Amino acid sequence: MKEFNFMNILITGGAGFIGSAVIRYLIKETDHKILNIDKLTYAGNLESLKEISNNSRYQFCKTDITDKESLTKIFQQFQPNAVMHLAAESHVDRSISSSAEFIQTNIVGTFQLLEVCRQYWINLSEEKKQSFRFHHISTDEVYGDLGESNSGLFKETTPYAPSSPYSASKASSDHLVRAWHRTYGLPIIITNCSNNYGPYHFPEKLIPLTILNALQGKKLPIYGTGEQIRDWLYVEDHARALYQVVTKAKAGETYNIGGHNQQKNIDVVQKICNLLDELVPNKTYGISSYKDLITFVPDRPGHDIRYAIDASKIKNELGWVPQESFDSGLRKTVLWYLNNQEWVDRILTGEYKNWIQKQYQS
Ligand code: NAD
Ligand code: TYD
Repeated sequence: MKEFNFMNILITGGAGFIGSAVIRYLIKETDHKILNIDKLTYAGNLESLKEISNNSRYQFCKTDITDKESLTKIFQQFQPNAVMHLAAESHVDRSISSSAEFIQTNIVGTFQLLEVCRQYWINLSEEKKQSFRFHHISTDEVYGDLGESNSGLFKETTPYAPSSPYSASKASSDHLVRAWHRTYGLPIIITNCSNNYGPYHFPEKLIPLTILNALQGKKLPIYGTGEQIRDWLYVEDHARALYQVVTKAKAGETYNIGGHNQQKNIDVVQKICNLLDELVPNKTYGISSYKDLITFVPDRPGHDIRYAIDASKIKNELGWVPQESFDSGLRKTVLWYLNNQEWVDRILTGEYKNWIQKQYQS
């Protein structure tokens, strides 16, 4: 792909955890113009973009990606050179208790976006058509479960076998995106990434939930035995990888992105407790270590045992490798939550508060 010095990049879901990291990266490290479209669900927070929101190269438009008419106007006005599609419902537990929004946003929304994008792309000049990219940001969870054996990694060629309503909806959207390439020639790229962690992560996910619960003396719920393994990637490493892909990858390609950081859930939680014992020694909850708050709870239905990524293709072809180790990234993350109480307080109100209270009651 020819890289323009000044691209117009349309980002969906830019108020979310990864989307906001991508926008902060693009505004700080590149000269591109960014339009962020986001519905601002419970997971979308413009506070996460506060440090760049006054930049003249950044714009925001509150939009639902299932709204075809609004999308059509946005494409016509903004004239993107690339789309980075991150908008999604992203939490496995929510998809188990209520899957309808996952079908609507992840499948129907991706379909609407593809269709509007195709109508726009078809009318571009030949040069712009060639260099245009629709980058679909997906998950390693589409590949399913690597099971109990400690060997084996997800490759770009691993067959899809999603387990949860969330991963099935993401797998469906990946299939739609590939079909729009094969059938209509839309120049797409797909990335499938492992679990992210870092600043601005919504506190329903394991790492921020553990940090914030511990600081409030609440239980640290571990599903099942806690022996499940995830391959953790620092979110800023992911943002860099996505930029490499959207500017360098050939149309039709898929890249797996991972952090070479396989960790058991119980070990992740214990590491967070060790960091908090060092940084915020606290005896006020009648505990000698935050580890005393660890509580084993009934397992998640359909819980995948292990995910792990072979990221050699993106390393060999695009030169991307993660920079953060798990220990350094986790320390940065814990420190970020300690130093950003205001963001946390704002998040811990409203819809999230109701949802988390219900989880604890059931
Ligand atoms: P997130 O839940 O933090 O953010 C999702 C964003 O999408 C929010 O800002 C939300 O308001 C917006 N959104 C939801 N529905 C929308 C709609 N109908 N129209 C417009 N905007 C809508 O998610 P995230 O963790 O930042 O994940 C971003 C993408 O990366 C998702 O596609 C997810 O599947 C994928 N992914 C996430 C991880 C991870 O560990 N978090 C790992 C691999 C891939
Ligand atoms: P999560 O952060 O929800 O990400 P995903 O389900 O997409 O991997 O969960 C990470 C792992 O932690 C997963 O194996 C489920 C487990 N988990 C717990 O044990 N306790 C919790 O409270 C949460 C939210 C997750």
